[in-house]
Amino acid sequence: MTGFMSISSIIVTLTLLLPLGSAIPDGDTIFISLNSLNSTNNVYKSYQTLQRSANIAIEDIPYDFGYLIIQVHSFKQPVSLWNTNDFDPQAYVNGTNIGLVYIVAADDIPQYYLSTQTDVNMTILLVIIGHDLKDPIPGGCNLTFDVEIAPFQKVTNLNELIRVDAQAPALYNNVCPQEEIKIEMYHMYLLLWDFYEGVYFRAIENMLTVKEIEVNGRKVPNSRGFPILRRYYVSYAGTASVYAIVTNFRGFRSAYIPAVSYGCGISGGCETVSIYWKVMYGFMIFLGLFMCFKGHRFFQVSLFFTGYFVAAMITYVILAYMKLTDEERIISLTAIGVIYGTFWVTMWWKFGIPIISATLSFIVAGYLVAAIFFYSGLDDIPVFENNINYWSVFMGIILLVTFSLLLLSNLYSNILTTSFLGAYILIVPFDYYTDAVIDPQFQPGDQVFLISWILVTIIGVYVQCKQNRGRAPFPPPPASPRLVAITEHTPLLGTSNA
Ligand SMILES: *[C@@H]1O[C@H](CO)[C@@H](O)[C@H](O)[C@H]1NC(C)=O
Ligand SMILES: *[C@@H]1O[C@H](CO)[C@@H](O)[C@H](O)[C@H]1NC(C)=O
Ligand SMILES: *[C@@H]1O[C@H](CO)[C@@H](O)[C@H](O)[C@H]1NC(C)=O
Ligand SMILES: *[C@@H]1O[C@H](CO)[C@@H](O)[C@H](O)[C@H]1NC(C)=O
Repeated sequence: MTGFMSISSIIVTLTLLLPLGSAIPDGDTIFISLNSLNSTNNVYKSYQTLQRSANIAIEDIPYDFGYLIIQVHSFKQPVSLWNTNDFDPQAYVNGTNIGLVYIVAADDIPQYYLSTQTDVNMTILLVIIGHDLKDPIPGGCNLTFDVEIAPFQKVTNLNELIRVDAQAPALYNNVCPQEEIKIEMYHMYLLLWDFYEGVYFRAIENMLTVKEIEVNGRKVPNSRGFPILRRYYVSYAGTASVYAIVTNFRGFRSAYIPAVSYGCGISGGCETVSIYWKVMYGFMIFLGLFMCFKGHRFFQVSLFFTGYFVAAMITYVILAYMKLTDEERIISLTAIGVIYGTFWVTMWWKFGIPIISATLSFIVAGYLVAAIFFYSGLDDIPVFENNINYWSVFMGIILLVTFSLLLLSNLYSNILTTSFLGAYILIVPFDYYTDAVIDPQFQPGDQVFLISWILVTIIGVYVQCKQNRGRAPFPPPPASPRLVAITEHTPLLGTSNA
């Protein structure tokens, strides 16, 4: 896999060389004529090489534009952008994905000043997007940010989580009908482990306009319990993600400035993290194969890992909010997982009742099924914007799946569950790798993930059923002779004959 990945990285690097000119002499002015913008999507784009500082002057603004979003994207090092217009209140932003809004007024030539702290010639992507006056102004509602109109997003790294904040959109004239302007959040994964400038900039270019965002991004389900303009994402260390926000006011739409996070500082520090993740994914592939094709045969082992995983998942979420080093986190996860896995196997040894032991994996399976339903669009139905409706249906699906599995004969329900969970654990890392090697424009669909999951589950069930022909449905637990009486046709609930 590593060989495959590095070959693909080379191909990607070769195809993503940036179109660069010579550096702009320090302090010179970049004149941008909007006559040269793309009139299909009203986007002007150009790559520049910045030597410490430059001025920007925007000319020939089409008369039908109400406002412009001026964006500057840089790789690794932050840049600072000031407006130096004598007709606007001074505004200043600093970062790698930044920008300002200019409200068009007749005959002005808006002026900006760009600067960097480094002496190195730096590549920047300059983007100007023209908008109708009726389109909502991203970040136009001065609430929280230092800049009055803040069309950009603030990305904060919090260990396992990435927080993305934005300021609310407004209509022209600073009206902020927050209920009426709809907001949708999107994100797109970038290539894994590849910190190439070209990959970075191309990904941003693919997420600039509403249309591009809808085509290339994955819509993020509505968040629960957090303000609408604050979103948390799970951070896969070393995997970059582009975040985008689309606004919609009665069909008039605009997009915030896309922001990129690498899930770790890109100027070092990620490599050590990535090894943990590589080991983790290698382990998951192994574990997934084992669970899917041998999980039932080695019942205690699969019990151990189910216990391990439930504990690790819960601990992971809790640890995400704590400041710990990677070593501390891995050690805590492993320790708590082992303790809980051992506890779960001990339960089986002590009581030897398959119903109790297998129920945990049934619940996990139910949780995954519920998650699929909601992820596949159920979340967008207005009824589920209410927390009570959402969670009662979510719990309902978990219970339904758990009880259906309990009603099956315990042999088949356990085979089905181990194959289902094993297939999931097996495919997650592959989905991840696939994201990593394919051109960012092509998002491997969730359908592909779902279909592979179902196929692998079916194969797993078939293989495990074949293996188990003529064997006792469950191994006898050392501490209890009870199981002798239980055959593969005994339903787990013991209330009806299967
Ligand atoms: C930046 O580019 C200019 C002209 O392209 C060149 O003269 C200068 O040496 C470069 N500076 C660095 C630090 O590479
Ligand atoms: C202008 O934008 C459209 C729509 O995004 C795109 O298909 C077209 O290739 C662009 N044209 C140029 C010259 O970049
Ligand atoms: C811009 O932000 C960076 C950190 O993100 C900081 O080091 C730098 O001093 C800031 N530049 C200015 C001019 O404030
Ligand atoms: C925007 O809001 C912030 C926080 O409420 C405030 O400090 C700042 O002065 C406001 N800026 C303008 C230009 O109104």
